Amino acid sequence: MASLHDKLQPFHDEFPLARARTIPSAWYFDPEIYALECRAVFGGSWHYAARLEQLREPGSFVTIDIAGEPILVVRDDQGTLRAMHNVCRHRAAQVINQPEGKVAKLRCRYHGWTYDLTGRLRGTPEFDGVQEFCKEDQGLPALTIDTCGPFVFVHQGTPPQSLHNSLTPFPERTQSAGLEQLKFAGRRVYDIACNWKVFVDNYQDGGYHVNTVHPGLAGALDYSQYRTDNFAHASVQSSPIKPSDDPLVNKVRTGDFAYYWWIFPNLMVNLYQGVMDTNLVLPLGPDRCRVLFDFYFAETEGPAAQKFIADSMAVAHQVQLEDQEVCEEVQRGLKSRSYDTGRFSVKRESGGYHFHQLLARTLRAAVTAASAT
Ligand code: FES
Ligand SMILES: [Fe+2]
Repeated sequence: MASLHDKLQPFHDEFPLARARTIPSAWYFDPEIYALECRAVFGGSWHYAARLEQLREPGSFVTIDIAGEPILVVRDDQGTLRAMHNVCRHRAAQVINQPEGKVAKLRCRYHGWTYDLTGRLRGTPEFDGVQEFCKEDQGLPALTIDTCGPFVFVHQGTPPQSLHNSLTPFPERTQSAGLEQLKFAGRRVYDIACNWKVFVDNYQDGGYHVNTVHPGLAGALDYSQYRTDNFAHASVQSSPIKPSDDPLVNKVRTGDFAYYWWIFPNLMVNLYQGVMDTNLVLPLGPDRCRVLFDFYFAETEGPAAQKFIADSMAVAHQVQLEDQEVCEEVQRGLKSRSYDTGRFSVKRESGGYHFHQLLARTLRAAVTAASAT
């Protein structure tokens, strides 16, 4: 049996793109690699958790499952945003099992234990006489939380750098786009039979598949000018927009430029003029993931805006169906005994290699740290 350390060896993160190979195919279905990713990548990165506008009022909350870890984000009575593990100290039920809402206190539905909005344990019905039980020690463990524009992020460990530094240059480069002014219009959820990295790879291929997989969208992008820029923990792909033959695409993809931001490990922010959608890729297992699409628009009031939103979301849905089909096909192919690693287009796929480098470095650092202790 190969050790985890050995499994990570075959990938060379130090090669120039022209010599680089992808991560080995086994990383896309090996349960041990998956478990390591859950711990090291998702447990060790700033992770998108909620929209800030969901958490305006004291008591408003959002729950999210981050690679198997139930997380609760809540605004407490003093107005402070807090994040904590959403796991009851009694028998590990989820304290709050609604996706979002507003509460006066956190009450576990299983046996009725209650916690205040800061996570302190308050009520423990029929628990008198239990020895060596100290309520003060039985709060919900806190996580680090911070915001960037309209987005709330959490970190489950000790962040090596601030949220802002980790996202840079996304906050600076999108400042003039006024993301806070865009209004949330809806969420679409897609469950896909592929490893979460297949979806990220597909996103990060520098437009390489746009002409072949997305004929409708392809007409709106000036492919010859499509480019990718990579940063410490992010990439941005950008393309000038041109008039498309597809009337629906033409109507909803306006403005001069499209920007496709990727934030390590699993957040994408797609920006057109007056239109934004975020894609959050949540791993559900070695070969399953869920992608949350959140849609935002500059205008949401009135019939014209509503029609625009419906059309824009229809275009995004079509693109997603096209991506989903190819992602599931890739997942099947990755298990073929004929395939181990692939090469990258130097012209197009620097973003994909950047993702693999960040991933491999994160996994190796975690294995090295674990073997040192
Ligand atoms: S698991 Fe929450 S009260 Fe028992
Ligand atoms: Fe695509």
